[in-house]
Amino acid sequence: MYGNYLDDAAKIVAEKREENLKFEHARLTAEQKDDLLLKFHPDRIKKQFTELKIGPNKGQQAPIELAEMLQAKPRLEPEKIDLNHIDYESDVLVIGGGGAGTSAAIMASEAGAKVLLVTKLRVGDANTMMAEGGIQAADKPNDSPAQHFLDAFGGGHFDGKPELVYTLVNKAPSVIKWLNDLGVEFDKMPDGTMVTTHGGGTSRKRMHACKDYSGAEIMRTLRDETFNRADKITVVDFTAAIEIIKNDKGEACGAVLMNIETGEIRIAKAKVVIIATGGAGRMHYQGFPTSNHYGATADGLVIAYRAGAKLLYQDSLQYHPTGAAYPTQILGKLVTEKVRSLGAKLINKDGEVYIHPLETRDVNASGIIREVREGRGVHNDVQDAVWLDTPMIEMIHGEGTILKSIPAMYNMFIKYGIDIRKEPILVYPTLHYQNGGVEIDKTCHTNVANLLVAGEASGGVHGTNRLMGNSLLDVVVFGREAGIEAGKMFKKIKLSDKLSLQHVKDFEKERAAAKIKGSAVSPKILPTYHHGNPEFDKEIPGATL
Ligand code: FUM
Repeated sequence: MYGNYLDDAAKIVAEKREENLKFEHARLTAEQKDDLLLKFHPDRIKKQFTELKIGPNKGQQAPIELAEMLQAKPRLEPEKIDLNHIDYESDVLVIGGGGAGTSAAIMASEAGAKVLLVTKLRVGDANTMMAEGGIQAADKPNDSPAQHFLDAFGGGHFDGKPELVYTLVNKAPSVIKWLNDLGVEFDKMPDGTMVTTHGGGTSRKRMHACKDYSGAEIMRTLRDETFNRADKITVVDFTAAIEIIKNDKGEACGAVLMNIETGEIRIAKAKVVIIATGGAGRMHYQGFPTSNHYGATADGLVIAYRAGAKLLYQDSLQYHPTGAAYPTQILGKLVTEKVRSLGAKLINKDGEVYIHPLETRDVNASGIIREVREGRGVHNDVQDAVWLDTPMIEMIHGEGTILKSIPAMYNMFIKYGIDIRKEPILVYPTLHYQNGGVEIDKTCHTNVANLLVAGEASGGVHGTNRLMGNSLLDVVVFGREAGIEAGKMFKKIKLSDKLSLQHVKDFEKERAAAKIKGSAVSPKILPTYHHGNPEFDKEIPGATL
């Protein structure tokens, strides 16, 4: 029971449930999808984007909030940074402690590299930890990497870089085996075979999951493995990379680090630098709530951009169709796509199934926005929304399925008195994923020598729309590839003595010439929830918190 005005609205859904369960909504045609996206997808609202005035992507569009960070004042004044005092020396510097960063650190250490992993929060405070529904891999007899390629490439509007999509899908089966061998507790049948299900836009059941805690379980395992390798991997937490350091040849060779509690500056020197800083949901583009973890503020894009790295599809964001839209305490939190893959349908206020539940994410997000804008959404005090009819799940699969397959969802709502086995829930799109990022090739190289990028901070793997379960896959596949590549590179590179922040000075000049105004500093590091409290913004010598 909602115990308020929503009970009457939910009754309409209950009355039509039997009928709706039998009704299979037709898939939309390509033209219908294009029309829906054009009219309702947030990425198509031109006034929410602006032209970049400086940097490698000058002349291209970016979300207003990201453009501000990419073109903002650096946090440090290069003249005040002593690059002769080195605090950390390593073969490989990994920036970011999520799925991609830890996978990279593990593989680089496997190759004999001395690794420094820095993370602005703690290892595992990352979007990987927040992922719920699963990880795709074509490892069943009725499936193939080629089929997976077609789904991912088509789902991404044919915009993905083919070599990246190829690597993603072909490495997937071995990555599942690697994770399984490390100890990830995947859902299995009594005979030991993996349980696999559909996600939006998949032509085969290839979603491997750990109930609806898939990311947490994978992250737990990768974190354990990272800490197990303490002889080779040094972890420094609560420390953000605020600028890449280059040498006199323009190659990346370290980073300026800042302790986020004290503001102290540290210098890390390395032969290879890997950025694995994740996404940008906490930028709250267009005012959307987010399913992302607290540190998702696009920092990696900012420091890579200032170092001269090109971005790809920086104007493409993913709004997960089913963010929680009620109650307030969980606004924007992820309601996993697995709920729809188990059979729950999207229903408007009139009790109509208005779309197929497993259209791709951009299409389903646009469909929800359309229903709400055209007056067929369910009005509520938090966010107008549509219903996701969760009680259908147990009608299809039997009593007990919800607690067995999606316990996280049950727990998230029951805290507020909503029993998803009996009541439908309210959902609206939430900012979930950064489709674009730093452009890479299949071994994670950027256009800046010795600077690699992996995971959500990279762009090109998913084109302009990612399918469910290809993100957990991306972070592990490309995190590993970056680590393997760095593991080969470090043996051939001599540590540079000529550390420089000249590129930061040059960037400042470019800002001035382009007359970039505003007091914003970047990277952002933490989201802005302080409502202008001056204490939070106070100056720290040599750096700005
Ligand atoms: O819906 C989900 O469980 C999200 C998965 C993903 O983004 O891959």
